[in-house]
Amino acid sequence: MSAGAGRDPQGKALLRVLAGEALEIPPIWLMRQAGRYLPEYRAERAKVGGFLELCYTPEVACEVTLQPIRRYGFDAAIIFSDILVVPHALGQEVWFVEGEGPKLAALATPDDLSRLEPVALAERLAPVYEALRLTRAALPAETALIGFAGAPWTLACYMLEGGSPRSDFGATKSWAYLWPEAFQALVDGLVEAVAEHLCRQVEAGAEALQLFESHAGALAGPEFRRWCYEPLRAIAARVRERCPGVPILAFPRQAGTAYELFAEAEWLSGLSLDTSVDPAWARRRLPEGLALQGNLDPFLLTLGGQPLEKAARTLCSALAGRPFVFNLGHGITPQARPEAVAELVAVVRDR
Ligand code: CP3
Repeated sequence: MSAGAGRDPQGKALLRVLAGEALEIPPIWLMRQAGRYLPEYRAERAKVGGFLELCYTPEVACEVTLQPIRRYGFDAAIIFSDILVVPHALGQEVWFVEGEGPKLAALATPDDLSRLEPVALAERLAPVYEALRLTRAALPAETALIGFAGAPWTLACYMLEGGSPRSDFGATKSWAYLWPEAFQALVDGLVEAVAEHLCRQVEAGAEALQLFESHAGALAGPEFRRWCYEPLRAIAARVRERCPGVPILAFPRQAGTAYELFAEAEWLSGLSLDTSVDPAWARRRLPEGLALQGNLDPFLLTLGGQPLEKAARTLCSALAGRPFVFNLGHGITPQARPEAVAELVAVVRDR
């Protein structure tokens, strides 16, 4: 199976860094590197009915995963899918409205938890695993393949808010404070579902995993520990048992000072920094063996030119000499200029 061979840390730059090596030229990939800023993505997107259809048609998901690799030769491909395929596979209604983002039929009360169907998950997500197999077979040998999932807190936010969370996270926090047992049951169920989805991705060819906790910034203190840190740790424990050796990255976006909690996360191979984190601070406060990933401001890819080059060089210098994966501090935006992405790759590789 390609997954085993791919995990040999000798070859692929991303895997070497996640195993603790500092490389002179850091590996580079970008969160949301397949997407609307690429004309070839928009062309594929126009051919299928909806966004979820894109995710569930293995040949098309494979094609759009490969598009940014062909153009830029990134060190890693991230499988084209979405964090919301997990709630969808659990039986929740999920749809995407052009210009408005995702919508879900919100779970309103604890009674609604019984509507979720965890047994059907792997069967419903079979097209994602097939897309991974096709992609691994088509990728250059030096390119690592990343599988991913949303972390339980972030998934719960979408499932309870019925879409992108309101600024006060009202529905989610009401559950967490008013019905803590039901909320814990939801999070525990998501730990199982996400761990299963990640292991299946590894078995289909993923060589590294990233957990997206996009709404970590809504939590602090004991709530951060309970609803973000502990579920991530529990997922990692399950994945390590079933898929030993696969490196795990976490992206607790906007976690602020809670980033420091991950200093002791021996279960983690890499920590993705959001745009608000000063790399010099991260270098001081986070252990040498933990790979750091990030954290260029995605807006610079709309601008390109000298500000982009300068920021990229500064970032590389700030994290030189330690395990570092060049990335953005959040996903690339539809406004990014494809030529600016090419400039960025050249700067990072040819400084
Ligand atoms: O290239 C890649 O990185 C792989 C694919 C990927 C997508 N979504 C494709 C996508 C990944 C890794 C994600 C993760 C994701 N999805 C996150 C976590 C990262 C983050 O941005 O914080 C979240 C919160 C989601 C949920 C989601 N999916 C939202 C909020 C939206 C709407 C916002 C938007 O950009 O339109 C989506 C849709 C989505 N997921 C698109 C893509 C390419 C755009 C949809 C389209 O093409 O019509």
